[in-house]
Amino acid sequence: MRTHTCGALRSAQIGERVVLCGWVDTVRDHGGVIFIDLRDRYGLTQVIFDPNDSREAWDLAQTTRGEYVIQVEGVVEARPESMANPKLATGEIEVRGDQIRILNKSRTPPFPLTDAEADKVSDDLRLTYRYLDLRRGAMQRNLTVRHRMTQTVRQYLDDAGFTEVETPILTKSTPEGARDYLVPSRVMPGAFYALPQAPQQYKQLLMMAGVDRYFQMARCFRDEDLRADRQPEFTQIDMELSFVTPADIYEVVDGLVAAVVAACGKGTVQLPIPRLTYDDAMNRFGSDKPDLRFGMELVELSDIFSDSGFKVFRQVLDQGGVVKAVNAKGLGGIPIRIMDEWTAVAKEWGLGGLAYIRAQEDGEWKSPIVKFFSDEERQQLRERLDIAPGDLVFFAADQRPVANEALGHLRLLAGRQAGVIPADALAFTWVTDFPLFMVTDEGRLTSMHHPFTAMHPEDLDLLETNPAAMRAQAYDIVLNGVELGGGSIRIHDPAIQARVFDALQLPKDEVEDRFGHLLNALSYGAPPHGGIALGFDRFVMMMAGEQSIRDVIAFPKTQKAMDLMMNAPATVDARQLRDVHIKLDDGRE
Ligand code: AMO
Ligand code: AMP
Repeated sequence: MRTHTCGALRSAQIGERVVLCGWVDTVRDHGGVIFIDLRDRYGLTQVIFDPNDSREAWDLAQTTRGEYVIQVEGVVEARPESMANPKLATGEIEVRGDQIRILNKSRTPPFPLTDAEADKVSDDLRLTYRYLDLRRGAMQRNLTVRHRMTQTVRQYLDDAGFTEVETPILTKSTPEGARDYLVPSRVMPGAFYALPQAPQQYKQLLMMAGVDRYFQMARCFRDEDLRADRQPEFTQIDMELSFVTPADIYEVVDGLVAAVVAACGKGTVQLPIPRLTYDDAMNRFGSDKPDLRFGMELVELSDIFSDSGFKVFRQVLDQGGVVKAVNAKGLGGIPIRIMDEWTAVAKEWGLGGLAYIRAQEDGEWKSPIVKFFSDEERQQLRERLDIAPGDLVFFAADQRPVANEALGHLRLLAGRQAGVIPADALAFTWVTDFPLFMVTDEGRLTSMHHPFTAMHPEDLDLLETNPAAMRAQAYDIVLNGVELGGGSIRIHDPAIQARVFDALQLPKDEVEDRFGHLLNALSYGAPPHGGIALGFDRFVMMMAGEQSIRDVIAFPKTQKAMDLMMNAPATVDARQLRDVHIKLDDGRE
């Protein structure tokens, strides 16, 4: 139907007769001559209809409207020099059309399909008419970036000796910390499949099957509260490897992300990617997903204030807490209004307040608290924090985890306020040695990652005495302050796995029911193994420069987990419910 796409024609084709197909982007009438910008996913070509060339084609061109699908035939011509458009790949030429066929008409689209207008359109409208939204250039580019990344991942992992294996979607609940999506069984009344939150157990079982190196572009399903970087169904680059240490996994993933970044034309990733322990990440950046694109690190000051006359600090230190601060360089002139906002943030994160020092340009310190400090304390502060005129220092005094986390959030606000976070930089880091467990608000032990995660061998003895102090062989890979992926070395000894289930206080029959197959498999010669899963949508979002993973998923769900285009979830008819033995409590069957 066409000789070229709408992005193909250049000066080299001048004089050729061509046929193009596409959508009418715009129609303009210039003194009796009609200009149509014809669009497809490859680009835009200007077609000109002059009544002197063909009255019939000109007549028909007049009747076209935006989003009509047309076929045009004509001759490629050079544009008059003054009319060339250097911003357009086809900007040196136009097609003088003498034939036009309307292949399909279009109703007026519910919103303009231009990238410039997209921000003004409500997300719900875009998602209801997603097939129109996807016609936009920016969305076509996102789909292409995603495709390119998929191909690069497959090629890289194939070269590295991985086998791609598909695992079931209809399966059984596996703990990843979210709610399951359930599918009722027809043949077993009252029984349900769960959609996988991740292929975690299958990939471990594949190691026991001797697959050695597995990967999958795995679709995962989690019924959890949605945010810009969370969807109810999403894709992981899921991997598992046998006979490995964490260092082997870092090496494979380092190479993988570097290959993907290069394929996206985003430069060279400096390898190896730096590694921070969880404790260092928390102490230096106040976050287990630190944004390393800028400094403003947290600085420990507890020793300076151990004898301080400032009661707020002294009391916290006496109770085993810490005093820490951040020097937000150059923010000394920050409006009080913003300091008040930050104080409110500090309180949200558990601090009693937010003490600060504004170092004025004349060297004078403005602060509600320095009057309580001795000269020596001031001097030590100045040196440790490298305080110069124009700086802003803010303090947190609290138990270490609270102080770290609060300052971590404030550090990000300060970095943004100071404009020191380079938007186009890519700062990858590993965060290693996560705690194995965390204690819930109700005082119960839960796995920080998942219950199959191996502990540091030296920490095994703490399992029954002080499990909260145990370190895991677990790691995250972080990009610009976003958790890109996470994984761990797994327990391969069935006795240790059983002890972990015990420590988690899972009842024996529940363990047998949910994990019996895994314990069994571990007892038939399971190799030491470990793996990782990278959030593919998040990775694409960052490579495409988008702010939400919705923009890099062809058909995403809304905040309420709805597909507005298909209108899902939807009610089903009574017969279907009967088939799966479900009675609704609204009285319908
Ligand atoms: P985890 O639960 O940390 O680990 O998930 C791995 C990565 O998947 C991404 N991710 C999501 N992306 C979009 N929407 C969501 N709702 C969502 N939830 C998670 C994140 C995250 O880092 N089985 C383990 C991996 C392993 O141990 O090998 C797992 O799933 O980027
Ligand atoms: P107060 O004595 O409570 O008025 O506090 C004196 C200053 O210390 C105020 O600027 C408070 O915002 C600040 N402040 C109070 N508690 C803390 C805390 N836990 N960490 C940091 N600053 C605090």
